Amino acid sequence: MEKLGSTVLVIFGITGDLSRRKLLPALLHLAEAGMLPEEFHVVGISRNGTTASDIIGFIRQGTSPDGPVPDDPYSRFSSMVTMIDMNMSEPAEYTRLADELDRLDLVAGYPLHRMVYLAIPASLFETVTARLAEPDINVRRDGVRACHLLMEKPFGYNLASAQELIRRLAGRFDESQIFRIDHYLAKETAQNILAFRFENPLFSQSWNRNHISHIMITAVESIGIEGRTAFYENMGAMRDLVQSHLLQLLALVTMNRPDTMSSAAIHREKERILRHVLPPAPERMDHDAIRGQYATYRAETGNPLSMTETYAAVRLSIDTDEWRGVPVFIRTGKALREKITEITLVFSNAASPGKQNYLTIRIQPNEGIVIDLHIKKPGFENAIEQVQLDFCYTDKPGLGHPDAYERVLVDAMRGDSSLFASSDEVLSCWRISEPILAAWADPDFPLYPYDNKSWGPQAADALIAETGVAWLSDTHLVCSLPRIIPVA
Ligand code: BG6
Repeated sequence: MEKLGSTVLVIFGITGDLSRRKLLPALLHLAEAGMLPEEFHVVGISRNGTTASDIIGFIRQGTSPDGPVPDDPYSRFSSMVTMIDMNMSEPAEYTRLADELDRLDLVAGYPLHRMVYLAIPASLFETVTARLAEPDINVRRDGVRACHLLMEKPFGYNLASAQELIRRLAGRFDESQIFRIDHYLAKETAQNILAFRFENPLFSQSWNRNHISHIMITAVESIGIEGRTAFYENMGAMRDLVQSHLLQLLALVTMNRPDTMSSAAIHREKERILRHVLPPAPERMDHDAIRGQYATYRAETGNPLSMTETYAAVRLSIDTDEWRGVPVFIRTGKALREKITEITLVFSNAASPGKQNYLTIRIQPNEGIVIDLHIKKPGFENAIEQVQLDFCYTDKPGLGHPDAYERVLVDAMRGDSSLFASSDEVLSCWRISEPILAAWADPDFPLYPYDNKSWGPQAADALIAETGVAWLSDTHLVCSLPRIIPVA
């Protein structure tokens, strides 16, 4: 792997949940694996007197809940961390941050690359980015110093606010400096989608409406909202998962082959396909956009009247020559039976009615790719049975792949934005989601309750069943035994 340039990473929100659960453990693993640049510093911003050793305490809790581990990696990591106690809204305080960054440059003897990570509520993006620009912390110097801004979703609350955020940020950072994180894009199996599609002639030739009759994307979770009441009440499943992660996965599955595998070419094709994805027509909304809420949600949030959806199942379409007429079904939900993220393409065509092959790309868990085939059952009878042909990462012990946040950090340091969301993609995803959100803003729009640990509301099964397919569920085993499923 290429050597990464000397870098200082400034983390706003270093004591927050995301930082403790994902970011700090990812940094520790990178440090242990020798993947960080030789000269690497973390400057943590907090408001409550948190010290560098507190940060190490958070990492320990996040990475070693089951008991003591050697001190070595932690103490090595702790020498990289400096904390600054400051009020993020106060312009004068940013001079202290600028001074600390200058000091680190001075000690290194040359300008360090800067990465500023916003692991803070979206409502603070505007203030923090404006303040960063005042003492020129945001300034990059061509060939001398890169300065990258990493942001966690949500990028806006709707189309208008996303446009406004993009407009304002453009005055402070140019598009090549902004890395909008969508950690689903950084999952190993999601990255494999383009390789699988474009490196295998068997599939690249048939990856279109002539051979594929349905696309299904599932991202169901067994956890509920885990105490994130204020965040979730404001977001709901559509904004939290569909507008971001799942439309990004759809773009990877349906985009045309880019001219090259460069970041610019990949974004060009993703932007193109997302511009052609259509939400349900207004008169179909009741039928094609199903929302649900898990049984214990209102008690958990203390809001007996909450209309926030914890489940969303929608039918979209794509108006291009390659995909016209192929329904796209997307579902997501919390407090469901299992955690599964997968994409399934149903291969069938008019020439062989009733015959279908399912190709499933399992993003998590049991990562892999599985194709359901019909074969003759061995024996004297001419019976047919269904078997699975699979590639499973789980069969390859020792083939460790980096966690999504490790990948995010390394790519941002390399300046490779392929696995991040462009502003155009973000806007298209809002354009697709907004008519659905607008319909759901009507309190009379059905909100189907569903039992915790179920597979969600029945209305979502009906949505898809009429097209002759069913959501795959726990009866569909991917990369786990037994491999042979009897045909019903
Ligand atoms: C986040 C959402 O973006 O993704 C969470 O805000 C969700 O609500 C999470 O639980 C799921 O991520 P993963 O990687 O666990 O599938």
